[in-house]
Amino acid sequence: MPLRSLHAAAVLLLVVLKEQPSNPTPHNGSKWTYIGPDGEESWSKSYPSCGGLMQSPIDLQDDILQYNASLVPLDFQGYSESANQQFVLTNNGHSVKLKLPKDMHIQGLGARYNASQLHLHWGDENEPHGSEHTVGGKQFAAELHMVYYNSDLYPNASIASDKPEGLAVLAVLIEMGSFNPSYDKIFSHLKDVKYKGQEVSIPGFSIEELLPKRPEEYYRYRGSLTTPPCYPTVLWTVFRNPVEISQQQLTDLETALYCTRVEDPSPREMIHNFRQVQKFDERLVYVSFRHEGPDPTYTGPSLGIALFVALAGVLGICIVLAVSIWLFRRKKSSKKVANKGVIYKPAVKQDAEAHA
Ligand SMILES: *[C@@H]1O[C@H](CO)[C@@H](O)[C@H](O)[C@H]1NC(C)=O
Ligand SMILES: *[C@@H]1O[C@H](CO)[C@@H](O)[C@H](O)[C@H]1NC(C)=O
Ligand SMILES: *[C@@H]1O[C@H](CO)[C@@H](O)[C@H](O)[C@H]1NC(C)=O
Ligand SMILES: *[C@@H]1O[C@H](CO)[C@@H](O)[C@H](O)[C@H]1NC(C)=O
Repeated sequence: MPLRSLHAAAVLLLVVLKEQPSNPTPHNGSKWTYIGPDGEESWSKSYPSCGGLMQSPIDLQDDILQYNASLVPLDFQGYSESANQQFVLTNNGHSVKLKLPKDMHIQGLGARYNASQLHLHWGDENEPHGSEHTVGGKQFAAELHMVYYNSDLYPNASIASDKPEGLAVLAVLIEMGSFNPSYDKIFSHLKDVKYKGQEVSIPGFSIEELLPKRPEEYYRYRGSLTTPPCYPTVLWTVFRNPVEISQQQLTDLETALYCTRVEDPSPREMIHNFRQVQKFDERLVYVSFRHEGPDPTYTGPSLGIALFVALAGVLGICIVLAVSIWLFRRKKSSKKVANKGVIYKPAVKQDAEAHA
């Protein structure tokens, strides 16, 4: 591709982005999908970053995790005030998106990050596994992303989205369990945004309710947007503990929405809107908590178990050795007896004759 047209495409992309304040991904003029010919294998044709470095999501597995004591709890500000406002819920053709109030922000990431929007990723009714991040290969039912931009450096999320230190995303893993009244404050309005482009105003609530237990326990790494244009500008915080929603709530999420507009003669269900985990070479994920597993710095009850196993092993080897020695000796001595019986007389006689 000539450099000039690449440049033109980039400029066009920026123009598209600027026109969409709270969503850093363009949803018109692009027709990327999760399934079919415009699926994720093809994203990089129109969005080169998708085939580039530092891509998200990833599998959070033991080999790449490193405990880091400098990962302090995040400070969530303006979260409860959000209860007094109306929120706008939108179907953008790829997910359901909630615009977040301007005074919501987080501190503890170096810069100040103002809130932009939240949205979700999920599977489908037959395969209800649609989280983007996985933990030790395990995929969760769904995943919530709260998107923030660096408001010390940039005026809004679209400007920040392709810039260094531009974005921060908080990710909440969702699993099936008991009914979640907080998540229902979003889910109960899905029927009003069934089709792409539809919008509804919903009563405000404290966004903090959507966070899991012990939010001070999280994974942290540098990665990208998980949707085109996949800019590698995201500081990720994936909370360690999942939240629960009920089977019915999950089914509602998996069946309520369409990627297509209301007038589209060939409607497409909004299902399976998660990206596959990406390669994670020569990078580390920092964790704010000490995790179980083969961590050499961890010396809790496992030391006792290791000692026990070692002792049992030594004892076993001793027993096997003792038995083999005993068997060997017995065999030898019985052979001697046999030798005496069979060869003794002629051998001695012959020897005696030979030496004589
Ligand atoms: C984002 O900021 C840029 C630069 O200040 C501005 O041109 C653009 O209109 C802003 N976009 C929105 C949606 O506010
Ligand atoms: C883009 O949006 C406009 C109106 O917002 C619509 O008329 C047009 O069909 C859309 N194009 C695509 C490719 O979705
Ligand atoms: C801990 O994380 C910070 C970034 O949050 C990083 O600068 C630092 O190098 C990390 N420490 C270790 C020991 O890896
Ligand atoms: C971030 O939010 C605060 C209000 O909490 C506001 O004063 C500030 O101007 C915002 N920053 C930007 C870049 O909009």
